[in-house]
Amino acid sequence: MSFDKSEAYLRSMRELDSVLEDVDNRIAVMATINCILKTNFPYYYWVGFYQVVDNALLVGPYQGTMGCLHITFDRGVCGAAAREKKTQLVEDVHQFPGHVACDALSRSEIVTPVFNKDGQLIAVFDVDSVELASFDATDQAFIEKIMSRYFGRVA
Ligand code: SME
Repeated sequence: MSFDKSEAYLRSMRELDSVLEDVDNRIAVMATINCILKTNFPYYYWVGFYQVVDNALLVGPYQGTMGCLHITFDRGVCGAAAREKKTQLVEDVHQFPGHVACDALSRSEIVTPVFNKDGQLIAVFDVDSVELASFDATDQAFIEKIMSRYFGRVA
């Protein structure tokens, strides 16, 4: 049977609900989301957050190979998500102008903006896959839901 994304996201959210119930620390929430999603999704090769610091992106909690440390808003998929405050779904990173290649194995990517309880952009959430077109509207819908559910209550 093929992998059921919706079922895996729903299971992940049940797990997150049970462990994050009383947690409102931003870093603890980030680290736990990375762990649970990477464990439940075989195509998550690199998963992590870039935090908004001084109007640029600085690497935050992640799981995977070493990520780039600093990314300015004018660069890459992460920069586009931060600038436009909109999820970027990239089927082939080699076709994305200005893509920042932290790991040459990455072939497709999704980046979602993350907002705090006041609606301010605090980070972007980035997932990379080593296969083309791993991410689709199902990933986007669930990742956006997860970000608003767990960061909509943090400072
Ligand atoms: N590829 C991203 C950079 C971050 S890494 O993939 C971990 C980009 O173009 O913004």
